[in-house]
Amino acid sequence: MRQLFANWKMYLNHEESVELAKYVASSIDGKEGVKITVFPSTLSFTAVHDVCHETDISLGGQNVAWVPKGAYTGAVSAALMSDAGAEYVLVGHSERRYIFGEDSEAVRKKLEAVLDAGLTAILCVGETKEDREADKANYRIQKQLMALEGLDIPEGKLLLAYEPVWAIAGHGDVEPCTVKDVAEMHAMIKETLTQYTAVSVPLLFGGSVNAENALAYHSLEDVDGLLVGSASSTKEGLTALIDVLAA
Ligand code: PGA
Repeated sequence: MRQLFANWKMYLNHEESVELAKYVASSIDGKEGVKITVFPSTLSFTAVHDVCHETDISLGGQNVAWVPKGAYTGAVSAALMSDAGAEYVLVGHSERRYIFGEDSEAVRKKLEAVLDAGLTAILCVGETKEDREADKANYRIQKQLMALEGLDIPEGKLLLAYEPVWAIAGHGDVEPCTVKDVAEMHAMIKETLTQYTAVSVPLLFGGSVNAENALAYHSLEDVDGLLVGSASSTKEGLTALIDVLAA
C-alpha cells in the first residue's frame, strides 16, 4: 500500500479545505492502492474531520504545543488534536524550524507530547542548501535525529520524513531532489535510526513531489510514503497524485 500525506499548510481557507476534503472523500472509492492522510489547518480541522471520519482518510495536525493544557495563549496541544480526531502530528517541519525558530529542544518536547497523547509523530528532518553546499547534509540530519535519544517509542508511533529544505516549494528557488540523492539519504537515515530504536520507522520523502515524480520516489526501497505540500492542496494536483499512486 502506498502512502500519501497531504500537508495543506496555510494554502486553503475554510471553505476550500472542506471542499477539497469532500472532493477527495468522493474520489477515493475503489482506489485501494493508496492510503491518504490530510493535514488541514487547525481552524478547519473539525470540519474536515466531519467530512472524512467515515472514510479511509486519516487526519493529522500540522503542529502542536508541547504542554497538554493550561495558560498557553494561542497554543493547541497534542491532547486537543487527539480529541479532534487526529492520528498523526508533524514535528520539526522545516517551516517550523527555520521560519518560526523551533530549536531541537522544542522538537524533542513536541515528540514527547505527541507520543504521550497516543498519537503518531512524523519527525521531519532536512538540510538547507547551505548545509548541502558545505557538505554537511549528513551532519545536519544526524544532528536533527538526536531528538530521538532515549525516547520511548512504541511500535508504529513514529514515522520519519526526509525533506531537504532546498527542495520544498514556496520559498524562492527550489530544486527537486534527484532520486539517487533520496535513495542515498534514506539509506543513511535508516542506518542512523538503528542507534535510537529497534521499532520499525517508515520513511517518507517530501519536497516538490507531484504526480510526475511521485512514483519514481515511492518506488525506492527505503521510501514508504510521500509527504506532499503544494501539489496536494489543489483538486487537480491531488487527484493526479492519487491516480498515479493508486495505479
Ligand atoms: P512541497 O512541501 O510539496 O510543497 O514542496 C512539502 C512539505 O513541506 O511537506
